[in-house]
Amino acid sequence: MKGNEKIIVQLNARLAEELTAINQYMVHAEMCDNWKYKRLDETIQKRAIAEMKHAEKLIARILFLEGIPVVSNLNKISIGAEVPKMHQYDHGAEEVAIRGYNETIRLAVEVGDNNTKVLLESILKEEEDHIDWIEAQLDQIKQMGVQNYLVEQIYKAQIPRLGCIVGTIERGRRPAGPSSTEQVLTFS
Ligand SMILES: [Fe+2]
Ligand SMILES: [Fe+2]
Repeated sequence: MKGNEKIIVQLNARLAEELTAINQYMVHAEMCDNWKYKRLDETIQKRAIAEMKHAEKLIARILFLEGIPVVSNLNKISIGAEVPKMHQYDHGAEEVAIRGYNETIRLAVEVGDNNTKVLLESILKEEEDHIDWIEAQLDQIKQMGVQNYLVEQIYKAQIPRLGCIVGTIERGRRPAGPSSTEQVLTFS
């Protein structure tokens, strides 16, 4: 079905934001894995996968509207050198996403594209959940100090009722080698 041109342009802008967030969050998750902050690693990795699903939905919608999904555009990726900075940069990425989805929902209402509106509203809800979690982390850091906060991020092995300690399987380390992205990532 032929879609509205302005909607397709905006969906591609949202897609670029999702692809940027995926890259940023994957690097942050792997940095946390490297430091063995397992709880952070798992949560940020889950968020990266959620953004991947958003990107998939946007691609599917653009194709349905007979547009061309642009998957080669990335915005600036911001990598935090330390955990609080990571949360701040990820907060910024979520703010961009929330602003963008609200803008595209407005346009979808204007041009009468109700299914795009419904799709974007469901994604927007998840972005708000993401920013809510990040804001809670920043509040915790402010309240308990970064060192106390980080102690809580180290994965603790669970002791089941039967009394045997279950070990955890840790993901392998990232292979060394050049980055596939053309952006040179700087840590700040
Ligand atoms: Fe997203
Ligand atoms: Fe998000």
